[in-house]
Amino acid sequence: MRIIRCRLNRLIKTSICATLLISLVYVISLVVITVKENQCSNEESLHFIEDLCEDYKSHRVEGRLCEAICESKDIIFQKCANYRGGKVVLLAQCNGRCQEGKNVKAVIKTKRWEGHHFEPLNLGTHGNKSLTADSLKIAKTLMNDLIYSTTKVNMGSIKDIFEKLWEMDFTSFVKSARYPGADNVVIESLWKLLNQDEYLFMSVNKDSHFIPKIYGTCGGVYVMEYAPSGENLNSSPSIFTAKKGGWVERASIALQILDICQSLDIDFHEPLHFCDVRKKTLD
Ligand SMILES: *[C@@H]1O[C@H](CO)[C@@H](O)[C@H](O)[C@H]1NC(C)=O
Repeated sequence: MRIIRCRLNRLIKTSICATLLISLVYVISLVVITVKENQCSNEESLHFIEDLCEDYKSHRVEGRLCEAICESKDIIFQKCANYRGGKVVLLAQCNGRCQEGKNVKAVIKTKRWEGHHFEPLNLGTHGNKSLTADSLKIAKTLMNDLIYSTTKVNMGSIKDIFEKLWEMDFTSFVKSARYPGADNVVIESLWKLLNQDEYLFMSVNKDSHFIPKIYGTCGGVYVMEYAPSGENLNSSPSIFTAKKGGWVERASIALQILDICQSLDIDFHEPLHFCDVRKKTLD
């Protein structure tokens, strides 16, 4: 009896081992496949920029930096970063167009729209393709509602919501546009931007020191400050051991960071928590 039990045990152990091993191999290959699928390629990114510029040249998108990306090439694609959480994230060199007189690194970003539901506004236009006064009103109301429902910020009192959120003077742009219906193209581009929480969050909070700057946009794509987490997260475990800055300055920075934490907790409809704080996700 004993011998049989022992053999049985061994058999069970072996099969458990084999099952575990097979599961492990399966999980590892799943992870590898997922990582590969989430990785971007430079070729694919160049296609992405080509498509954007095609849209710009045929007047389907507008933005302050379209010309720099598509014509003067002052913004040059360098390499793509991982697609994180369904975003396109491209690192670029920006010569003179992001910070005046300076050549800086910048990040080109947008949501990956495949698989996401997105409705263009499809507003009513005159025969000459420009928006009717009613359409403009509808656009303002819809944008206001969207901004409020996402950020709890009420933009209603701001005289021109387009200028505040579009990084460009709407009225003078439309006046100087050399093709019909430019106002409609601008509104649709802005609508696509506002449908991205990250863009909305950064535009609404753009006066804060800690929010990366938005340099400009092109269609639903925005170009923002390259803000690597730097040495603070890389080596030194605490900002208090950093070399520069006196006590008062450090205390003030600490207070501002606490303000941001509080704001993320109470200023939105739901508390906003970052669950994945690593150097890589903060870059
Ligand atoms: C388009 O037509 C409307 C109505 O006729 C007019 O008010 C508007 O100024 C025109 N826009 C342009 C850009 O010509």
